[in-house]
Amino acid sequence: MPPGAERGGGELSIAAGEAASLGTVDEVAAALAGQGYLADRSLATAIFLGAELELPVLLEGEAGVGKTETAKALAAATGARLVRLQCHEGMDLHHALYDWDYARQLLSLRAAELAPGAAQPPELFGREFLLRRPLLEALEHPGPVVLLIDEVDRADDEFEAFLLELLSDFQVTIPELGTIRAEGRPLVIVTSNRTRELHDALKRRCLYHWIDYPSREREEEIVRARLPGVPEAIAARVCTAVERLREEELYKLPGVGETVAWARALLALGAPNAPLADTLGVALKVREDIDRVRETGVLSGV
Ligand SMILES: Nc1ncnc2c1ncn2[C@@H]1O[C@H](COP(=O)(O)OP(=O)(O)OP(=O)(O)O)[C@@H](O)[C@H]1O
Ligand SMILES: [Mg+2]
Repeated sequence: MPPGAERGGGELSIAAGEAASLGTVDEVAAALAGQGYLADRSLATAIFLGAELELPVLLEGEAGVGKTETAKALAAATGARLVRLQCHEGMDLHHALYDWDYARQLLSLRAAELAPGAAQPPELFGREFLLRRPLLEALEHPGPVVLLIDEVDRADDEFEAFLLELLSDFQVTIPELGTIRAEGRPLVIVTSNRTRELHDALKRRCLYHWIDYPSREREEEIVRARLPGVPEAIAARVCTAVERLREEELYKLPGVGETVAWARALLALGAPNAPLADTLGVALKVREDIDRVRETGVLSGV
């Protein structure tokens, strides 16, 4: 949440155990805006439909366009708990779903050995020793949940296959405990930076939405929503600069997050007219890009 902004959570409400309904598309957009997140109508529609049709929403887009933030804002706006699974290479079920607390199991065994016949032998694979990882937590949470499966393109194929199963039935089987079913369906947001193509089977189970860079006017609104009270000159300046940078052939284009950070940097400097070339590192993170922008003078006059 931007500093200084007052936000009330829970403008939209979902009761635990019910199919989530988010009212109308306009209400979704308004509730997200209440959290400082300005969603396009098409994104608000995808989220609304995801809840109505009980489908995960798959968000793709360049870095920093607001994919992760969508889920955060949605959780805050619905008063739901945000459960986030950050995907990474080599991720397996023990990172994502559950694990056993081996240290506590060992301690418990030792204690049982030291006090023979005292109590029942410990049930090592019971709930007492279960570690809930994000997916299990989302399934078992008694209240409304927004489940964010972030950067799914970083996980590998086997994990994607497992997700496919989970997302279709919302239940999992843990051999030692049996089948666990979600009471109410979480709202699910899956994000991908498209470092690889996802499997069609996964895409088919989701509503797909591509988040584009916002228009120049929209980006200014976003900067103002994120930094209430930001001087107009700063908001306009960074948005013009970013718009120009996005027209260049750079390795890494600045996202909306960088635009907001740039405005914040100029605010921190207390000098709205400070040369942008001195603060380029807020927006660009590749040395060659910075050199190129300085050499070509793309930002001159901004
Ligand atoms: N539509 C928007 N409304 C308000 N703020 C936004 C919007 N889009 C992006 N932002 C801002 O941009 C920042 C970066 O967004 P976020 O982290 O969600 O991007 P991302 O698409 O997940 O990027 P990455 O691919 O790098 O993970 C957010 O913290 C937020 O401040
Ligand atoms: Mg992200």
